[in-house]
Formats: sequence, C-alpha cells, structure tokens
Amino acid sequence: MTHRVLVVGSANVDLVVPAERRPGAGETVLGGDTTVSAGGKGANTAVAAARLGADVALAGAVGSDSYGEILLESLGGAGVHTALVRRVERPTGIAYITVTPDGENSILVSPGANEEVTADDLAFEGARVLVASLEIPLSTVESAIAAAAAAGVRTMLNLSPAAEVSSKTLGALDVLLVNEHEAAWLLGDGADPVKLLDLGPSAAVVTLGAEGALVITAEGTAKIPSPKVEAVDTTGAGDAFTGALAAALAEGADLEAAARKAVRVAAISVTRHGAQPSYPSAAELTEG
Ligand code: RIB
Ligand code: NA
Repeated sequence: MTHRVLVVGSANVDLVVPAERRPGAGETVLGGDTTVSAGGKGANTAVAAARLGADVALAGAVGSDSYGEILLESLGGAGVHTALVRRVERPTGIAYITVTPDGENSILVSPGANEEVTADDLAFEGARVLVASLEIPLSTVESAIAAAAAAGVRTMLNLSPAAEVSSKTLGALDVLLVNEHEAAWLLGDGADPVKLLDLGPSAAVVTLGAEGALVITAEGTAKIPSPKVEAVDTTGAGDAFTGALAAALAEGADLEAAARKAVRVAAISVTRHGAQPSYPSAAELTEG
C-alpha cells in the first residue's frame, strides 16, 4: 500500500451539543439535541486532504465498538486508506463538544483507543508528507517525526492540543503549524511569531481564525487573508487547514500557495456544522 500523505493522529467520535453558554464548575446547563459525527484531529486532517483528492492514509486506532465503525465509515467514504487504523480493546476516542451561538466550541476529549497508537503503526512507502497531531502519545509523535525525517519524508506537526515537544522534534520539522493560542503558549504573549523559527522548524504557519494565516519562512513572513464567512461551527477548522496544506504540499505546491488554499478550505468548513461532514471537495473549491 502506498500513499503520498501519511497522517498519524487521533480518531474520535464527536458528541456535539449546542448550548447558549458553557456550564461552569458545579453548574448544570440544558443544551439542544446531540449530534454524533466523525472527528478527531488526525482523522479530520486525513479526511480534509482526501476530500481534496489527495492520496492519504491514516495511522491510528479505534475501538472494537460501534463508534469505531462510524469512524472507519467516514474515513473510507472520503477515500482515506484505513489499513493502518488498528482496532483495539479500548473504547473509541470520544470528544464531548459544546458549541455556542457564536460558533465557538469547547472540547473535552477521552482518548481511549488513541492512546494505543505507536510508531510501529506507520508505513512510509511512497509517502511525501507526514502530518502529526497530538491527541496520541507524545512519544509516538516524536518517533514518527524522527523516522519520517530519516526517510526523507516532509514533516508537518499540528501542535494541537499544545504539548511539550522536544527541541529535537521541532528541529526535524519542515512545517510547524500552530494557532494563535499555541504560538503564545510556545513563545509567550505578544512575541513576534517569526521567533517560531528559532525553535527549530524550517517554516511555521500560524492560523489566525477569521483573519487567515501567517506563513513564516527564512525569506520572511506572508499574511494570507481569509474570505469573510458566517461561522456556525469552528470545530475542526484547524484540522481542515492542516489537511488541505498537506494535500497541496504533496502535490508540489509551495508553502504560501498551499496556505492560500488551506485558508479557503478552513473558511468553508466553519460555515457548516461538525468537523469531517463540513469539509469541502476539490470541486466545491473551484466553484467558490
Ligand atoms: O480539532 C477538532 C477535533 O478535536 C474534534 O473533531 C474532536 O474530536 C477533537 O479531537
Ligand atoms: Na465545521
């Protein structure tokens, strides 16, 4: 089996509840009806890339339960290769998500099966780009990035959710992807994002939500604006961006062109509910 984009990361079923506001400690809030949909940062990234026509595999793990079936169906339906998704004797990962009327979300993840993902689950044959994210063991991510770099595969890390990654791993990255919060977590509040390169990656991309993204390379920083859209659900927008970026890089696009495409894909995703169900196809992008 070969694939140009190899994603290593989580697969979760998202249990999404719309609510006027989030409950505080010790408080009970009544929300709307629950939607069950396919999510998880790794699976989202893989589906976003596959929807755009990329040849992509996910290395990951789901449980032997019905939620695992939902995820394998969503992945397969989008055309993601699932031979590297193991079924394990742990519950499938679940994300408990509250979405408020402004389209913002807060997420509590129970990783379950995702904690069983190991670097042995990867196969690099034919891969041009490895994309990792952090709802799986950190040691797996670090080994995967080292192995990809050694195999001459381009390496991307979406530092989400933020975790203490070693300087060796940051130094092995072709592209470090962060949002504004993760950038501030790495550098401190108000720091110049160009300092991300001092941490070791060859390039960095900072997603700015409705403001688009920054592409930072040794040549300088480019601001990529986002089209203005009406956001109903921002869940998984960063993963849509990551998948679109990886798909474009695997096709040989330069980082700035890839980020322009990724900003459009993320903007479309926030206009629809859910993570994977909201990701556009290549045809929808050309229409827009
Ligand atoms: O990034 C969004 C994702 O975070 C959701 O799909 C949820 O599963 C959590 O992993
Ligand atoms: Na969405």
